[in-house]
Amino acid sequence: MAFEKEINKRRTFAIISHPDAGKTTLTEKLLLFGGAIHVAGAVKSNKIKKTATSDFMEIEKQRGISVATSVMGFDYADRKITILDTPGHKDFAEDTYRTLTAVDSVIIVIDVAKGVEEQTKKLAEVCRMRNTPVMVFVNKMDRDGKDVFQLLDEIEQMLAIKVRPLAWGIGMGYNFKGVYNLYSKNLRLFESNREQVTPAIHFENLNNSEIDEYIGAESAQTLRDEIELVETVYPEFDVEAYRRAELAPVFFGSAVNNFGVQELLDTFVEIAPSPRNSTTKEREISPYEDKFTGFVFKIHANMDPNHRDRVAFVKVCSGKFERNKNYLHVRQEKQLKFSNPTSFMAEKKQVIDDAFPGDIIGLYDSGNFKIGDTLTEGEELHFSGIPSFSPEMFRYIENGDPLKFKQLNKGIDQLMDEGVAQLFTNQYNGRKIIGTVGSLQFEVIEYRLKHEYNATCRYEPLNLYKACWIRSTNKEQLDDFKKRKYQFLALDKHGRDVFLADTSFALQMAQQNFPEIEFYFTSEF
Ligand code: G4P
Repeated sequence: MAFEKEINKRRTFAIISHPDAGKTTLTEKLLLFGGAIHVAGAVKSNKIKKTATSDFMEIEKQRGISVATSVMGFDYADRKITILDTPGHKDFAEDTYRTLTAVDSVIIVIDVAKGVEEQTKKLAEVCRMRNTPVMVFVNKMDRDGKDVFQLLDEIEQMLAIKVRPLAWGIGMGYNFKGVYNLYSKNLRLFESNREQVTPAIHFENLNNSEIDEYIGAESAQTLRDEIELVETVYPEFDVEAYRRAELAPVFFGSAVNNFGVQELLDTFVEIAPSPRNSTTKEREISPYEDKFTGFVFKIHANMDPNHRDRVAFVKVCSGKFERNKNYLHVRQEKQLKFSNPTSFMAEKKQVIDDAFPGDIIGLYDSGNFKIGDTLTEGEELHFSGIPSFSPEMFRYIENGDPLKFKQLNKGIDQLMDEGVAQLFTNQYNGRKIIGTVGSLQFEVIEYRLKHEYNATCRYEPLNLYKACWIRSTNKEQLDDFKKRKYQFLALDKHGRDVFLADTSFALQMAQQNFPEIEFYFTSEF
């Protein structure tokens, strides 16, 4: 019973948004309201995402900051809350996708003036694929923005999900008066105050004339009309539909002004799902199973530059994880035990004795782990849903210092295990190719090879359109394809065949001329 209670207490989620919508601010305010931090400014804003130009010193600084804040936990209202941070910069979108495999729900932040932006749409698509329940926070209500009803339509269409407002903004911009919470029937008056929160006033009935005194007769009437419209247009909130990822509750507020955040947090702890089932290639895993299972969704190196240590972030999926107990590392087929597992509650990391489903634990790693690795009590399981995406930017990587060949190879190997980029080997000339989804990664790799592995690399340009994995049951056709395209074939890190298409036309022709070959655009197939 105690075990089940522990699981039911846990809420593990991520906040996602297009850069600048207010993700960092909202994260910080949630931590502030949750009592995890006491001063604003403890979570630094991800300035890197704001510069399109790359600056690897900045990346390094950011990496330092994001280590401390990439998992943030706190206790609130008898819940154990864990927020997983996601990088804002689009070049790190793969990191974000992987983080989304470790959460049970998501809060999407939208800027009221900008509406649904590109990155939001992409990330929401990943949530949809994984059936992850989402809540929407419409931010920056203290500024003028889009018509709210139109915005709600836009969210429904662009994110392909039904919406239901649970808190309603009264006016916006200069006329922003406050937020009415439809769920608990509370009115909170807006004050432009970044430090304090105004108390909520309970109104069971919106026709209460006292509301006029608080926000003025005109705003009160508008509020009544709008709420009436909301109640007629949108079906009643159905918590189960939210948990099935069919319905997104929507909140309005201004994160920087502490506004609407309490409403969001209080509703979140009440309705957000506790840890859900996880999918493996072999079977579905329930968090309530008594045997421990977990998987690595992120690896962070260089926590301390002097020790070149790495931390593997493991999501506990079922059972109880215990310190110093032997677990099976499925890919390596060996038993490992961990003497210093850490949790990420409060401001500092702490060594823990045990952990429950929903928890994220940090395991010190001397090079045993890769993204996607599974730990169990003996069962051969492989967690699915952590794909690598077909990269779109390529460069040959060459050794820049003949005396440091070993260091270079080790560095490349470990960086690939961390999921920084993908490595391919050209089958024709044996040259190594780095493939990424964003151009920043090339600089990250060069910089980290130098500073962490004392190795120098050189890049050479390589113009390719896409790399995709190929497979066929028709051996003859596959052999024929390989013979004709021998210059454009590579092997990935696992020795699987990859086609390097130099143009979209070449890819199209290949697909047309070799109908029995399947071309895959993610590594999981
Ligand atoms: P991100 O993580 O999603 O990229 O966004 P972030 O929180 O860094 O916020 C982006 C900018 O929007 C910041 O301004 C932040 O202060 C501002 N902001 C966040 N919430 C609100 C809000 O409710 N209303 C208004 N008006 N602005 C908001 P900045 O100038 O880039 O940074 P800063 O100097 O204010 O920190």
